[in-house]
Amino acid sequence: MLAYFNTLASEDAELLAWQFLLLANDLRKQRYPNACYLSLDAKNRPTVVQRKDDTPTCLWHEADGHWCRSSQIPAVAAAMFDLYLPLLARKDAPHYVVAHLGQSIDSRIATSSGDGFFVTGEENRRHLHCLRALSDAVIIGGATVIADDPQLTTRAVAGDHAVRVVLDPRAQLDLSFGLFIDAQARTVLLHQSSAKLDQRAMKSGPVLPSGEQQVERWIVPNSDAGINPEQVVNLLASRGLRRLFVEGGGVTVSRFFEAAVLDRLHVAVAPLLVGEGTAALQLGGVEKMINAHRPPHALYSMGNDVLWDFDVSGCQDVDSGSSAVQDPTKSCLAPTVRLK
Ligand SMILES: NC(=O)c1ccc[n+]([C@@H]2O[C@H](COP(=O)([O-])OP(=O)(O)OC[C@H]3O[C@@H](n4cnc5c(N)ncnc54)[C@H](OP(=O)(O)O)[C@@H]3O)[C@@H](O)[C@H]2O)c1
Repeated sequence: MLAYFNTLASEDAELLAWQFLLLANDLRKQRYPNACYLSLDAKNRPTVVQRKDDTPTCLWHEADGHWCRSSQIPAVAAAMFDLYLPLLARKDAPHYVVAHLGQSIDSRIATSSGDGFFVTGEENRRHLHCLRALSDAVIIGGATVIADDPQLTTRAVAGDHAVRVVLDPRAQLDLSFGLFIDAQARTVLLHQSSAKLDQRAMKSGPVLPSGEQQVERWIVPNSDAGINPEQVVNLLASRGLRRLFVEGGGVTVSRFFEAAVLDRLHVAVAPLLVGEGTAALQLGGVEKMINAHRPPHALYSMGNDVLWDFDVSGCQDVDSGSSAVQDPTKSCLAPTVRLK
């Protein structure tokens, strides 16, 4: 079966790898049943197989929660597994949070007029849709809704839509934006408890084909520093949304990073210069360069863009300068996907 994988043209190998990832994601949602060995069936479709010693498997889930992949597969498939399988690992923590920003080389995610379209190219757009499909919820800040009127659905690849979560602390967003009325996916507005909401607003809005109310309003406690990202991830996890994707913008990703709730940070750098515009990450500084964070990372090529995949689960105290001094020579991402 692995021989078949290796006969495929690059695009077909990518499609097959994606089907494997969707199956692995289904297994995650079913809380990982015992048999987590994935291979191809007689019609070359990914399937769960009973393991015998001589069964060639493409992916398997180890007792410690990590996924492993075969080394006998095409390079494009191996790269996809290395990039996405860490998101599907079983973790003891109740949530796993990945954030992404697509920026110019001068760290802009939009122009000064708020135009954030086409910063990165088509391959990176497809990557965003892959992250949505593998996540339970996609989170964005209110300013992105106003600037982009985004759909946040999974369209460029096969897969489910994530629940769309918008941070709107004071309940100021107008509900005429597309994602509040398109009836394509569940949508949650997160407000602080001080937000002024009348009871009618809490109950009105479109209904999904499933009969569910499309827009729900969930409340998090007040805090002087805005919505506390840790409370956001805990609230979502308590409601079954455990794999979270923070899609922007810069303010939102920066706050989630500074609250140390991110496991992974993806930064796609596009070869363009924007000048004045909306900043990507905005973090407090450190006095000495030796105290700067040097998170383990891996690099992926996406068309003309380069994606940096950072493991930021160890990044804390970024603005205090008190983070542990890290050895700059040890900054490669330790393989979370084990080969066999
Ligand atoms: N290239 C990319 O990757 C990318 C991705 C997404 C968006 N964009 C672009 O980025 C721009 C918007 O980004 P942005 O950085 O200005 O804003 P943003 O992150 O989209 O939204 C910021 C707003 O969200 C709310 N918010 C976020 N985190 C919060 C928290 N922890 N507590 C309370 N409120 C919180 C606040 O709303 P209130 O103001 O109501 O307090 C805040 O002003 C747009 O132009 C969009 O096109 C680019």
